Amino acid sequence: MKKTIIANWKLNGNKKIITDFLLNVHRHLTKTELNSVNIVIAFPQIYLCLVKHIINDLDLNIHLCSQDVSYNSIGAFTGEVSIHMLKENFVKYVIVGHSERRNFHNENNNIILKKFIKVKESELIPILCVGENLKEKEMKQTELVLKQQITKILDELGNTAFDNTIIAYEPVWAIGTGKSASIEEVINIHKFIKKYIQYYTNNSIQSLSIYYGGSVNEKNIKMLSQQKDVDGLLVGNSSLNSEIFIKMIKNMI
Ligand code: G3P
Repeated sequence: MKKTIIANWKLNGNKKIITDFLLNVHRHLTKTELNSVNIVIAFPQIYLCLVKHIINDLDLNIHLCSQDVSYNSIGAFTGEVSIHMLKENFVKYVIVGHSERRNFHNENNNIILKKFIKVKESELIPILCVGENLKEKEMKQTELVLKQQITKILDELGNTAFDNTIIAYEPVWAIGTGKSASIEEVINIHKFIKKYIQYYTNNSIQSLSIYYGGSVNEKNIKMLSQQKDVDGLLVGNSSLNSEIFIKMIKNMI
């Protein structure tokens, strides 16, 4: 199974930067390289349509991801983007519950559950972000926090809650700090998440993928992507520079 890299651009980029980025990716990666990794890009939503056109013109095998979605479908919800709008713009994946949404937009587990359901119902692929902050890590509460973030969804959706979905373990203390979790920490947590869901649902978790995010760069991506418990990687800062992004893809092959 191909490993996945997701570039989460957050609130960065403009038309020119994004176009140049995609042109560079096209120029410096061979077709074989492009097809060896599942490449996913989460540019700001407003550029999705433009990006789809560029990807088609260049015949690039890259999938689109949204950084967020509204749990409402239509109506008086200023500033929101619906799942239907994302589908119309050929989005395949949707990030739900990123720690920056939890922290800066007060998204709690209830709101995240509603968004997760919306994405699942629409048959796009939800990427549920979970992870502890530094204080919780120091207080050895990582597993407790992860259980709380995951159980809300299991309670509501039952045994099939995580079929054909992705969970991204993104420890908050590792995001944008240059301090990635160690390989051992990543493996242990990924195993813990799988075991917990399997135990809770008494179900096969074959179609659940677990990704890691938090200060992934061109140096540590090789080791991380070689781990059988790591199905993919979510990259913030290091994905903004096309040269580094291209290096990361080459290092995953
Ligand atoms: O979603 C990716 C992310 O939050 C990690 O960001 O900058 O630590 O790679 P960064």
